[in-house]
Amino acid sequence: MKVVVIGGTGLIGSKVVAGLGEHGHEAVAAAPSTGVNTLTGEGLAEVLDGAAAVVDVSNSPSFADDAVLEFFRTSTTNLLAHAAKAGVGHYVALSVVGTDRLAESGYFRAKIVQERLIRESGLPYSIVHAPQFFEFVMPIADFSTVDGTVRLPPVQFQPMASDDVAAAVARVAVGEPVNGIREIGGPERVRLDELVRRALVANGDPREVVTDERARYYGARLDEDTLVPGPDAELGAITFDAWLARR
Ligand SMILES: NC(=O)c1ccc[n+]([C@@H]2O[C@H](COP(=O)([O-])OP(=O)(O)OC[C@H]3O[C@@H](n4cnc5c(N)ncnc54)[C@H](OP(=O)(O)O)[C@@H]3O)[C@@H](O)[C@H]2O)c1
Repeated sequence: MKVVVIGGTGLIGSKVVAGLGEHGHEAVAAAPSTGVNTLTGEGLAEVLDGAAAVVDVSNSPSFADDAVLEFFRTSTTNLLAHAAKAGVGHYVALSVVGTDRLAESGYFRAKIVQERLIRESGLPYSIVHAPQFFEFVMPIADFSTVDGTVRLPPVQFQPMASDDVAAAVARVAVGEPVNGIREIGGPERVRLDELVRRALVANGDPREVVTDERARYYGARLDEDTLVPGPDAELGAITFDAWLARR
């Protein structure tokens, strides 16, 4: 089947395109660099022609509050309109575990808007909620650093290898629409502060991680379970240590 992957040149998108191709599907990577722009609408009608499913794994080039909100509102509105016009039978989008619990963060307010637009579109859809990717652990250290020290709360954390995320997204794309959220998660639950400490050591980064119950994540307060998926989540197989060893 033809599946258009919006953001198909990105971290997750390129793996989704490769995985679908390996399973005999016609996977088309769509991004500004391939002539498809969801903000302007350029190339959307052409690329969606004949598509059975569209997968949105794009991301905003800027994470500033206003910019990210504008990105997800405009790109999702355009993509939904073109998907409806082209008769696409399944709209799949990748979002984040706990999005609805993270509204204090500008990034997550934008993801909440993206999800609402999809739910209200009337198109058959599946929203995949993934936890943080292993690739995102070092960026967490960076945006949680104050005066050279990383400050993080000791909350539950269940990150996932991008390979496992992409495989799960590809499986959802070729399945029936769930018209709701499908949660996925990493194979192990750990503490956020502890895992970031391990990642820094593995990277030879001398920064200290201070456990701080009041430290915020992307501007949002975290409860014990804010970042982790529920008991029905489909779990990936690749552990953080296996991923570190593979790099
Ligand atoms: N980071 C995490 O831990 C995490 C966890 C759960 C879910 N997610 C979600 O996963 C999704 C994908 O993340 P990622 O890290 O794979 O993203 P990424 O590597 O930054 O890739 C972003 C993709 O979006 C494309 N793009 C940017 N502007 C576009 C536009 N106007 N029109 C069409 N495509 C555009 C980019 O194309 P170019 O290469 O041409 O610029 C690129 O292919 C995001 O929606 C994010 O919310 C992330």
